[in-house]
Amino acid sequence: MTALQQAGRFITFEGIDGAGKSSHIEALAAWLRGHGHEVVVTREPGGTPLAERIRDLVLHAPMDALTEALLVFAARRDHLQQQIEPALARGATVLCDRYTDASFAYQGGGRGFALDVLVQLEAWVQQGRHPDLTLVFEASPVTAATRRAAARVPDRFESQDLAFFERVSAAYAQRVAQAPQRYVRLDAERDKAAVWTQIEAAVRGRGWW
Ligand code: TYD
Repeated sequence: MTALQQAGRFITFEGIDGAGKSSHIEALAAWLRGHGHEVVVTREPGGTPLAERIRDLVLHAPMDALTEALLVFAARRDHLQQQIEPALARGATVLCDRYTDASFAYQGGGRGFALDVLVQLEAWVQQGRHPDLTLVFEASPVTAATRRAAARVPDRFESQDLAFFERVSAAYAQRVAQAPQRYVRLDAERDKAAVWTQIEAAVRGRGWW
């Protein structure tokens, strides 16, 4: 990286399954590339060959809550070291479909796993690497369930009941309340064009580009 080159920005996308975040990640990548930026699009769990193998286990193999928490953070460690940190260091913008907020929401809120252990894992694994901006797609658990039913075969998380997703949503809201400046909440009940308008405003609002 030259002296004039900025370190890249790290942007994450969060929300309950079916809130509609995935299609917007590629749209934001295209928008940024159109403005001349290098963009890396990735996801969690996953993003490296090792972490993608862990993803397959986490989404499909029965396991207890501690195993699940350890695996998502193990995947995150590899992803950070192999993919995210090198990309940010060379000045690329990293768009990541879920990150640690999802661990607090799904393992913490959904499964009821100990938050103090998640806080420890977060500190060990990330060494202070937090997103610069997190877009939170907010849709009600009922809307999200309707969208999921139309779209895909459910995995271990998507097959959970409404009460699980109520807890996941509440845990996301709690994370936002703890560091509101890092997040932009999007009304994901609205149609795709209206959600995109909110994303563009959120990104422009940061004044980075
Ligand atoms: P998701 O990213 O929504 O992928 P897709 O759109 O292909 O279904 O699914 C990943 C699932 O993993 C999602 O249900 C949430 C879960 N998850 C956790 O439980 N903990 C985590 O730390 C992460 C990153 C994801």
